[in-house]
Amino acid sequence: MAYLLEMQDIVKDFGTLRANDHINLKVEEGEIHALLGENGAGKSTLMNILYGLYHPTSGTILFRGKPVRLNSPHDAINLGIGMVHQHFMLVPALTVVENIILGMPRRWGLVDLKTAAQEIREVARSYGYDIDPFAKVWQLSVGEQQRVEIIKALYRGARLLILDEPTAVLTPQEVRELFRVIRRLAEEKYTVIFISHKLNEVMELCTRVTVLRGGKLVGTVNTCDTTKEELARMMVGREVFFQLDKEPPSLGDVVLEMDKVEALNEKGLKALKGVSLEVRAGEILGIAGVDGNGQSELAQVITGMRKLSAGRIRIKGRDVTGTGARYIYEQRVAHIPEDRQAEGLVMDMSIKENLILRQYYRPPFAKGLFLKWPAIKENAVQLMKEYDIRAPHEEFLAKTLSGGNQQKVVLAREVSTQPDLIVAMHPTRGLDVGATEYVHRRLLAERDRGAAVLLISTELDEILNLSDRIAVIYEGEIMGVVPRDRADREELGLMMAGSKRLKAS
Ligand SMILES: Nc1ncnc2c1ncn2[C@@H]1O[C@H](COP(=O)(O)OP(=O)(O)OP(=O)(O)O)[C@@H](O)[C@H]1O
Ligand SMILES: [Mg+2]
Repeated sequence: MAYLLEMQDIVKDFGTLRANDHINLKVEEGEIHALLGENGAGKSTLMNILYGLYHPTSGTILFRGKPVRLNSPHDAINLGIGMVHQHFMLVPALTVVENIILGMPRRWGLVDLKTAAQEIREVARSYGYDIDPFAKVWQLSVGEQQRVEIIKALYRGARLLILDEPTAVLTPQEVRELFRVIRRLAEEKYTVIFISHKLNEVMELCTRVTVLRGGKLVGTVNTCDTTKEELARMMVGREVFFQLDKEPPSLGDVVLEMDKVEALNEKGLKALKGVSLEVRAGEILGIAGVDGNGQSELAQVITGMRKLSAGRIRIKGRDVTGTGARYIYEQRVAHIPEDRQAEGLVMDMSIKENLILRQYYRPPFAKGLFLKWPAIKENAVQLMKEYDIRAPHEEFLAKTLSGGNQQKVVLAREVSTQPDLIVAMHPTRGLDVGATEYVHRRLLAERDRGAAVLLISTELDEILNLSDRIAVIYEGEIMGVVPRDRADREELGLMMAGSKRLKAS
């Protein structure tokens, strides 16, 4: 049969690195086709080629049976190819309508802006989206921004929609909503290429799956003929364990103590309302909750990046309330921040520099005012090996690493110093199954070494897999704390929606 899209023998080199190595991808009209692969496998690169952002080193693209040359996204859009990127590309200071028509070939005047707004509203409405075309993008939640990106692509006439890890940043409710829209599109003969690391999503939503590994094509299979386990094996090239073997915790002293902590968010509203928690050495306390219920502020007050408006925080018995981030770091507190690109890494710096960001001012990396480069390099070479950071060398810039490898750099820097307390927020967001398994093992190993771990995550599976006790946060309040062996998915779900735990734990 004729395919809507055929990418034939695509090669893409970045210098000496071959990101796509003779890849073939065939997509039928009206299908939801998953693109799977480990971090750095070459998925985004292949899709950026299809969207005209990168030129392939060699290879051919056939669209509706005809060879096409895509020199820019304009060419792609003209063919009806739209893309929602892994990291959104909207301009925050502009309105929704301005963002959508920005760069469109037609010249828009004031009157046209109104027309466009009306048309955008209608396109959105036909998919059950309620979008205010005159809202400024910075005012929108991540989920809303994604809707704008999708509407933008559809409004510009996309018939083939590329979604690069659209669910990584969404709440479970938003994921369901997105799936509803994707299915609607497929019913109307739109074609969707869906990138995700979540095998459950791929199995549920997609008809066929193409798997890449290390820039090479592993194969294309029908979801109805495969299993999660087989897909994981194809991606990683070995068996992946979805369940971790975990010893019961051996508890030590209290490391983190929070006593009726309150804090305000950027808008001056109370984001934490009397949070009291304790984490002991040798245990993982999971914080479950829907995104935006005070988790960011919680991590920030503990790591000294946000002021408390009331309450006290003690670390190993020492009152650290009102001290700063560096003081708290020096109490051996590690922080895996929620946004590795904005907070965890300096994207324009090399791996080796990123690995010493927190300690560049101390020996062995500095002597007086001078940095000791041999020690810095040595440190990087060793950590890259130990933490399986995949890059050609330690001078490689953080921004050119794949998401999973960026996270491993943060993890290596924070965890290699043997901290007493680890505050880990969304530590596996956007990571592939292999890297996720790796991060999970590492956090468990840290717990077994005797670190206290506070794990903040919106993935209930992750919380249930790793935690020894689970606290649920809702609108800045702790709804209850449940020991893992008594935790029940339904009950946690209810608490995440705001009902207080009634049973004593
Ligand atoms: N602009 C670039 N310059 C140099 N190397 C790059 C560039 N973009 C990507 N790479 C490299 O190409 C390889 C493939 O990266 P790509 O972003 O396509 O992976 P991916 O499969 O999308 O991974 P992830 O799941 O982490 O998003 C990686 O090794 C990456 O470091
Ligand atoms: Mg990618």
